[in-house]
Amino acid sequence: MTLFLRTLTLCAAIGAADFAVAAELSLAANTTGKNVNFIREQLDIFEKETGHRVSLVTMPPSSSEQFSQYRLWLAAGNTDVDVYQTDVIWAPQLADQFVDLTEATKDVVGDYFPTIIASQTVNGRLVAMPMFTDAPALYYRKDLLEKYGKAPPKTWDELAATAKEIQEKERAAGQADIWGYVFQGNAYEGLTCNALEWIKSSGGGQIVEPDGTISVNNEKAAAAVERIKEWIGAISPQGVLAYQEEESRGVWQTGNAVFMRNWPYAYALGNGDDSAVKGKFEVMPLPTATGGEEPSSTLGGWNLSVSKYSDEQEAAIALVKFLTSKGVQKQRALQLSQLPTIAALYDDAEIAAAQPFMPSWKPIFQSAVPRPSAVTKVKYNEVSSKFWSAVHNTLSGDGTAAENLELLEVELTELKGDSW
Ligand code: GLC
Repeated sequence: MTLFLRTLTLCAAIGAADFAVAAELSLAANTTGKNVNFIREQLDIFEKETGHRVSLVTMPPSSSEQFSQYRLWLAAGNTDVDVYQTDVIWAPQLADQFVDLTEATKDVVGDYFPTIIASQTVNGRLVAMPMFTDAPALYYRKDLLEKYGKAPPKTWDELAATAKEIQEKERAAGQADIWGYVFQGNAYEGLTCNALEWIKSSGGGQIVEPDGTISVNNEKAAAAVERIKEWIGAISPQGVLAYQEEESRGVWQTGNAVFMRNWPYAYALGNGDDSAVKGKFEVMPLPTATGGEEPSSTLGGWNLSVSKYSDEQEAAIALVKFLTSKGVQKQRALQLSQLPTIAALYDDAEIAAAQPFMPSWKPIFQSAVPRPSAVTKVKYNEVSSKFWSAVHNTLSGDGTAAENLELLEVELTELKGDSW
């Protein structure tokens, strides 16, 4: 196709009315894995086809740090950032600062999973378009499990036993740096995700229930956190208390972990040419306490929102539609192994060939457990930070889980007041 024809096609596809005037846009996105490299390549295509220019504002990989920065910028009415990459949990907290995309996306919104669209709709306003969804996996070293005749674990205790045995035997065989299990234990949003999984998969509820009840102070939840505490320094390095996604992936990808809890983005990277574990691992759903409980992945995902302070809203919306389009989501799935938010892509043969786990991950993310962001609304960030602090304190040996969860219940009750 000539550039002219392709431009016309793109304009039609993204419903943009007038590209006579080129806009200067800026997009804030995080540096997890190859996210910004991928986005930059897509922006080059968008620029060529629309005449707009887009600069990238790179953000730290930590969701919590990103949130703090965005909140400051938005509170100050910052006009420098037009489009924000947003975490799935932020919609209720930042809704007032973002443009309603309902009208602009009505031609395509039916292609997206309705539950994800609903999660980004606040008081009838669609404040973010889904770019990819997320549900974590247990990554395991297929080669090592086979070498020691072990089955992939279904329960947390099986995971611990297998991790310990393989760690000990591999160390004895000269792999001095190998650990049994790495996860995200830093005091930030990622620990909220991990700990919600331990607790929910042990029958301990989901911190705050969908009806607003604060449920976290219970024996099953306490036992679930204590179980992991036992692992620190034994099958998980002490340093795991400072790990986020990228640090755990670093240990895993150099071949120094038997198991890892991480999101799907680590799949493509782990199979990259520079990875020591290329072709040596598989993914499976996370374990549960007895093997009989419901699956327990925390629902994650990232979206794009247009700032209401942007003075280029029309072009910014066109950019959001482009980066969340089926074509770009397909490329994201092929290159970064991130889960599409468009149902049809789960039947795509090219994606299934490139990322064999992906078709089977559709039911897993669909039954994933949401964090209590919808019910706690603008207070979610405080709920989460109090929760991850209670868990981090416990894992660090500062109080027992029972003590820390009791205290947490008091704090959350006060934070809730009469209602969320
Ligand atoms: C992943 C998830 C996101 C979550 C974050 C926590 O990026 O997609 O929803 O908040 O991890 O670290």
